[in-house]
Amino acid sequence: MVGVMCAAGVQNFLKVRVVMERGKEDGRVLNLVRNTEVKDIHQFRLAFTRFMLNYEFGMEEVLTKINILKAEFSQLHDYSPIEHVTSRIKSPESIMKKVKARGFPISIDGIRDNIFDIAGIRIVCSFLKDAYVIANMLTEQPDVELLEVKDYIKNPKPNGYRSLHLIVEIPVFLSHGEERVRVELQIRTIAMDFWASLEHKIYYKFESDIPDYLKDQLYEAAQMVGELDVKMEGVSDAVKALHPDPDAEAGARIELSPSTTLEDLLKNLQ
Ligand code: GTP
Ligand code: MG
Repeated sequence: MVGVMCAAGVQNFLKVRVVMERGKEDGRVLNLVRNTEVKDIHQFRLAFTRFMLNYEFGMEEVLTKINILKAEFSQLHDYSPIEHVTSRIKSPESIMKKVKARGFPISIDGIRDNIFDIAGIRIVCSFLKDAYVIANMLTEQPDVELLEVKDYIKNPKPNGYRSLHLIVEIPVFLSHGEERVRVELQIRTIAMDFWASLEHKIYYKFESDIPDYLKDQLYEAAQMVGELDVKMEGVSDAVKALHPDPDAEAGARIELSPSTTLEDLLKNLQ
């Protein structure tokens, strides 16, 4: 129902935009916008704001989960698999561009059902296996539903791009009830992130038409990134074998007996 009303709203919105732009070009006064259309724009804007807000809330929920894991790791272990996290909400302009380019219905339902990267979170980790550790820790949580996995680490894209992509759905509890929100997660190592951000800049600089010799160099660099990640993981494993987690060691040294008091345990913690 909302979708039908909003589809009309979007169409009127676009119609008014066209009229306004034409009006601007002609230098005419912008009194071509009829009152009924203005009302539709208002309704659409309200529904769209609500819709976008849900993605902000959903993204915040997932970010909280990630921050809790990060804090837990940094306080209870001497190492965290999460290096840093970034997030963004897709702009309405980019959403419209994607909807139009892919021929999806121009309505709020059409956007909800087809665009899964409105809320996007990128998690950068140190080592290859961390990507899977983080993915499991998040998707095993009972309120997180895993909808899609694209493993570009195991199967890199033809240009060399590597990352683990997940689409998850999370409930958001609002005054009127529950809304389910989709969030895209990109999990990658520091080395993969370095490659992807450079490739992204080059892609835009050449307006998607990268010269072949640069494509080859990027592909070669991507292979080096893959090798570097394997090498660094080997180094990390070797270090771990020589220096086991000091927290685990400390825990193992506490010997409990029936006469151990809480005071003894607290003293040991200090
Ligand atoms: P999009 O329409 O771009 O979202 O692609 P998709 O729906 O086919 O999904 P896919 O999982 O392939 O890509 C999702 C996102 O991953 C993109 O929006 C980019 O942020 C990132 N990505 C995918 N491929 C590449 C790539 O070749 N280079 C870089 N730098 N980023 C990529
Ligand atoms: Mg995308």
